[in-house]
Amino acid sequence: MKVLVIGGGAREHALCHALARDPQVTGLHCAPGNAGIAADATLHPVDALDGEAVAELAEELAVDLVVVGPEAPLVAGVADAVRDREIPVFGPGLDAAQLEGSKAFAKDVMAGAGVPTSRSYVCTTAEEVEEALDAFGAPYVVKDDGLAAGKGVVVTDDIDAARAHAAGCERVVIEEYLDGPEVSLFAVTDGETVVPLIPAQDFKRAYDGDEGPNTGGMGAYTPLPWTEPGLVDEVLRTVLQPTVDELRRRGTPFSGLLYAGLALTSRGVRVIEFNARFGDPETQVVLARLETPLAGLLYAASTGALADHPPLRWSDAAAVTVVVASNGYPAQPRTGDVIEGLDAVAREDAPDVYVLHAGTKLDAEGRTVSAGGRVLSVVAVGKDLAAARERAYAAVARISLPGSHHRTDIAAAAAGE
Ligand code: AMP
Ligand code: GLY
Repeated sequence: MKVLVIGGGAREHALCHALARDPQVTGLHCAPGNAGIAADATLHPVDALDGEAVAELAEELAVDLVVVGPEAPLVAGVADAVRDREIPVFGPGLDAAQLEGSKAFAKDVMAGAGVPTSRSYVCTTAEEVEEALDAFGAPYVVKDDGLAAGKGVVVTDDIDAARAHAAGCERVVIEEYLDGPEVSLFAVTDGETVVPLIPAQDFKRAYDGDEGPNTGGMGAYTPLPWTEPGLVDEVLRTVLQPTVDELRRRGTPFSGLLYAGLALTSRGVRVIEFNARFGDPETQVVLARLETPLAGLLYAASTGALADHPPLRWSDAAAVTVVVASNGYPAQPRTGDVIEGLDAVAREDAPDVYVLHAGTKLDAEGRTVSAGGRVLSVVAVGKDLAAARERAYAAVARISLPGSHHRTDIAAAAAGE
């Protein structure tokens, strides 16, 4: 099977890393990719938001499957353009991707499907905003309705900050605050059959102890030893399957990866948000434990054949990923710094440790340099979380990126440290 992956971050590197190890995959391409993905896949320049360009490339390469990684191309209808040429594509079309593209749409689908989530109001005027903030009280949760690359949500006790964020958005969702730990659960679906993956936890704040600004995610781990054993079945029954059924009923079937961001509150599981694609950095740890070949699974989802796919197999190992971020991330990431030590990790620590690239490129002298806010995602597996943590941080210590920062407490609490 020949596969083309669209995107160029650590999530796409994790997908390519898994696909490259799948014996069924005979050709692997990525567009646009990054300096690290080049080791696993042939790179092609493309505007990932241009559906016709992506479909054209898929046709030229005669691939059997296109996997769209990030949300922006999905919301731009890139999967539709590929599907129109009758090439199997993993990822929802524009209509179903609104589940991530519009928070108001997601709330409407959840209401229709009876999926548990926070109570909310969709507001377009300052008066409506004021009423909604008043109805829920602090802490205030104010969300930009549209895609905002992780910057659209403000959770604050400060009513002026809540008002200011709302004023900067065309349409906002104001909702009830959910307490309790957050869990990410992904499911692969063909629009009808839903196959849950395994839960993972992301660390969204920039600094240790969940301090500092929100980021795209600073690390993740799996398994989650502190959750109830029945969690996945419960979320499949109460969240994932009803959502997929509701979208099909509306005539906008969702195929691809359904990501449920959940809060485990004192009153039960609640959906915080849906995403329409693999999460980053959770994907890095979830795929590290997947033993079932990835290409067949994604192909089955893309061709409506998931009901016939064998049950997934998972390793008992634990996986941890630590994100190495550039100087100034998330406010003002600096780029162009030279990364050193990657060879030492590849030589000394493989295969239990590997470095996935997020924002990297080769400079004119052929050196790997930082090219984004999140630069690397160092993944380690071990017999338990403590062992995986130790390996991940030993590898992070071998890598040098001037001015970089990373969290030191990824999976620490779950490992009992
Ligand atoms: P989202 O983009 O919807 O995932 O929101 C980003 C982050 O904001 C989430 O991971 C939560 O930490 C926080 N958040 C979002 N909605 C709520 C809520 N209703 N209650 C508490 N925290 C929330
Ligand atoms: N892990 C957060 C996200 O992918 O949106």
